[in-house]
Amino acid sequence: MEFPETLRRLVTTVQLPGPGEEDYRDLISQIIRDVSRRRHVEVALSQDELDILVRHMRGLTLLEAEKILTKAIIEDGRLTVDDIRHVIDAKKSVVEREGLLEYYPVEATLDSIADLATLKAWLAKRREVVARPEKAEEFGLTFPRGVLLLGVPGCGKSLSAKAVAAEWRLPLLKLDPSNLYNKYIGESERNFKRAMEAAERMAPVVPWIDELEKAFASGGSEDGGVSQRILGSFLSWMQDRNGDVFIVATANDISRLPPEFLRKGRFDEIFFVDLPDQKTRSEIFRIHLSNRGKAAEEFDLTELGAASSGFSGSEIEEVVVSGLYGAFSEGSAVTTEALLAEISQTRPLSVTMSEKVESLRAWARDRAVMAN
Ligand SMILES: Nc1ncnc2c1ncn2[C@@H]1O[C@H](COP(=O)(O)OP(=O)(O)O)[C@@H](O)[C@H]1O
Ligand SMILES: [Mg+2]
Repeated sequence: MEFPETLRRLVTTVQLPGPGEEDYRDLISQIIRDVSRRRHVEVALSQDELDILVRHMRGLTLLEAEKILTKAIIEDGRLTVDDIRHVIDAKKSVVEREGLLEYYPVEATLDSIADLATLKAWLAKRREVVARPEKAEEFGLTFPRGVLLLGVPGCGKSLSAKAVAAEWRLPLLKLDPSNLYNKYIGESERNFKRAMEAAERMAPVVPWIDELEKAFASGGSEDGGVSQRILGSFLSWMQDRNGDVFIVATANDISRLPPEFLRKGRFDEIFFVDLPDQKTRSEIFRIHLSNRGKAAEEFDLTELGAASSGFSGSEIEEVVVSGLYGAFSEGSAVTTEALLAEISQTRPLSVTMSEKVESLRAWARDRAVMAN
């Protein structure tokens, strides 16, 4: 709730714990009972589907949840699997109202991500802990805290954040740093704290801070110390946060990253996402051709992989897209030859910025685990 400036210092805000799963379950029965008095309601949800519905309500206040559910039921007199989608959409708009967080419901699958085998294995090993945190705690294991993903642009760091959500079946809450500072001074810190509180309320959840160095660039003093203060509150929040909250942070440029993040203990692990090797490049071609409805087996994936040495995943995607444009405008089908021609016309970032890529690699060699 927002108070006018004059009232703000007279007011103390108390953060009450959000509703629990039982509260949402009670609410659902209550709404069904209420609506049934006026009209027939058909409930067509299995126990599993009901669990999923309840899980997606996490982080909503009871009032918000009530509005959303009542609307979903009244629309067609039914509570069905389709209403899960309604709840997700409604929640998305509630979360995004403040403008700092973007809500990604669980959706992506790991199949659309080539390689990154070590990272995937690391995640798979913790899946049970995440799924059953109480049992894990009895066993002496705490909820994982977070990972930092470093690497060459376009090699799948943001994609990996989505992989975390897919592997663990938890929603992602993306924090966009560029929105952090575009309000007047003084607001940023408060907005940031609010975003972190929202993340806690939604636990278990994966807050995702993309391009960490942009949010907390080291040495920037021209903003009156705001970014330093936000960095401070973020670090202490990382230390003291409540609830099952796993942070995924990504960075392209370690030289601009405050060293605090790289100290032992901030993250469970620092992963380095390197350029794809030849086999992975072929696989990325296959993924992006199939994504666009092309029969990947009609292409020479081995040759494409071999010819695209030094290309990042996103550059390979670009090649596929440009190839499609070319073919479409000529009224022909896209072929291996056309893609090879696109490849030969591209100078990948790893060539134009080879020194930067090399120094990032050298830095990561002793300090990070290879994600690929
Ligand atoms: N390993 C991969 N498998 C499949 N596609 C990839 C892979 N790496 C990159 N891509 C493609 O490149 C795009 C950009 O990758 P992204 O994860 O945003 O890179 P980064 O965050 O590291 O800069 C992705 O959306 C995806 O289409
Ligand atoms: Mg990215």
